Amino acid sequence: MPAEIVGLGVAVPPYVLTNADLERIVDTDDQWITERTGIKERRIAGKGESTATLGQRAATRALAAAGVRPGDVDLLLVATATPDYPLPSTSCILQGELGMRGNAAMDVIAGCAGFVYALTTAAAFVTAGRAGTVLVVGADALSRITDYTDRSTCILFGDGAGAAVLRQGDRGVLGSSLGCDGGRARLLMTPGGGSRFPASARTVGDRRHFIEMEGREVFKGAVTAMASSSLEAIERSGLDPDAIDLVVPHQANQRIIDATARRLRVPPERVVTNIARYGNTSAASIPIALAEAWEQGQVRPGQRLLLTAFGAGLAWGSAVLEWTLPPPAAPGAEEPTHSALPVVRAIRDGSLWDDEELPPRAGGTRAAPDPTVVADPAAAATTREAGA
Ligand code: ACO
Repeated sequence: MPAEIVGLGVAVPPYVLTNADLERIVDTDDQWITERTGIKERRIAGKGESTATLGQRAATRALAAAGVRPGDVDLLLVATATPDYPLPSTSCILQGELGMRGNAAMDVIAGCAGFVYALTTAAAFVTAGRAGTVLVVGADALSRITDYTDRSTCILFGDGAGAAVLRQGDRGVLGSSLGCDGGRARLLMTPGGGSRFPASARTVGDRRHFIEMEGREVFKGAVTAMASSSLEAIERSGLDPDAIDLVVPHQANQRIIDATARRLRVPPERVVTNIARYGNTSAASIPIALAEAWEQGQVRPGQRLLLTAFGAGLAWGSAVLEWTLPPPAAPGAEEPTHSALPVVRAIRDGSLWDDEELPPRAGGTRAAPDPTVVADPAAAATTREAGA
């Protein structure tokens, strides 16, 4: 039995970063950003917001739309590239925040393709009878790993979350195709902060905790992989490409979306885009676009949808769904917004979290600092050379 989506929800931060704001931070302009990417503004998580807080809001809305209680969820999947902490998983944080107890929860890391990977995993669990109800959350706070001194990347990214509840149905996810090319991993990565190069004075000083990207190469790879995996997913669904009513692509760049649609011979009016308002929100981009299109009545029961995404890894994925969920009675209310410029300036100089309390330490007693261990060898050497 296929897995169908029975509820959707979205959450974006209230802070809006416009192209005019970016003109005040880096050497760029609205015309360049609009022509090269199609982006006009993006949302930025404020103080106290994170991947988990955005995910929680989206998940709560999706559960309400589905009429499902948190306790009825058997499996929670969170697709993200920006977990709240290195340990534990964001899905476990979210599971606790949502008031769930005892169910399985895990993160899915596949960059911007994360939601399609998680959706495919969810559908496999449901179809195999291993889970009755799965909550899939795509959430990212890319502003936390964006270098706001690098004009080639900081214009692209935004924060947000989208969520979907899946259950067994007569129709729903018909087929999918997932893939990656780890040989090209270096084209798009955050080198610092993992087990290879843990946070150190050097990684922080050299600014290696941010997204680094060969934009042009990633662009070419995106169009090729999204088009070919889309065709594979359509074929695995037993459909003809002409049977696709609506494409919901990852919102990375309007030119990538247009080029992919051209390869698939899908006219622009059958492609869902909201990149102008949110930029690239990574794993959140497809569920946000899908939920908004559903709320606005653009997605209707009986339609065949193609979801397709590409990102860090390099990883890609596509899925085909036969839609069953009727549009909601009323679209979600618009929430008030504020300028994100002060938030982004505080992210850039690191002061956003100055007066935030870290979580209390868990257990254990620590040895007193050893005075013979030098925290910053480079600074100590300079001090020695100066004869101090
Ligand atoms: N404003 C003004 N000029 C700029 C800016 C800017 N913000 N950024 C770059 N430029 C300049 C460059 O310096 C370069 O100048 P030069 O010719 O004098 O050297 C010129 O513009 C062209 O630069 P390109 O990098 O070739 O520009 P391109 O047309 O490729 O656009 C972009 C860059 C928008 C990044 C595009 O390559 C892209 O969208 N790539 C794919 C990004 C993506 O999809 N990533 C995957 C998902 S991310 C994830 O997984 C988290």
